[in-house]
Amino acid sequence: MSKFTLKVNGRTHTLDIDPSTPLLYILRNDLGLQGPRFGCGLGQCGSCTVLIKGLAVRSCVTPVSAVRGAEITTLEGLARDGRLHPVQQAWIDEQVPQCGFCQNGQIMTAKALLDKHPNPTDQEIREGMAGALCRCMTYYRVQAAIKRAAKMMAAARRASGSEVIA
Ligand code: FES
Ligand code: FES
Repeated sequence: MSKFTLKVNGRTHTLDIDPSTPLLYILRNDLGLQGPRFGCGLGQCGSCTVLIKGLAVRSCVTPVSAVRGAEITTLEGLARDGRLHPVQQAWIDEQVPQCGFCQNGQIMTAKALLDKHPNPTDQEIREGMAGALCRCMTYYRVQAAIKRAAKMMAAARRASGSEVIA
C-alpha cells in the first residue's frame, strides 16, 4: 500500500492504496463516483472513460500510480455552478441514451473531441468516437448531440468572449 494524492473534479483526495489498482476502482469504490462504468475491464469499450489533462483515458486499465497528481475529471465534474455542460445538455436535448450503460464513455469522449475540434466534421466525429462502443446503437443520436453541443459551445464562447468552454 502507498499514500496517493489524487485530484478529481477539483478536489484533492489522499488515499492509502495499492499502486496497481485501476483508477476506475478508486473512483467508484473509494470516492463514490458512479459516472465511470465498468464495461469490459479491458480497455476496449470506453464506458469507464475519464478526462486526464483533457484527454479521454480508459480508467479500467490505468493504474492509479500513473495518474498521481494529475487533474482527473469524471462525468460528475462536467457541470459547473449547477449548470450542465453543453455536451450533457445536448445529450438530453437529442435524447441520446437507450439503456444508458455506455453513455459515460460517449459523453466524456465527446467532450475530449470537442475540446480538440470545436466544430468537428462527420469524419472527425467518427474517428474521435470510434472506440466508444454502444450495444444499443445510439451512434446517430450521438453524432447529432455532438453537433448540437458544438453549436451551444460556440454560442457560449461568443457570449463570454472566451476561447474555451471548460
Ligand atoms: S470498461 Fe474500460 S474500456 Fe471497457
Ligand atoms: S445506450 Fe445502451 S449500450 Fe449504449
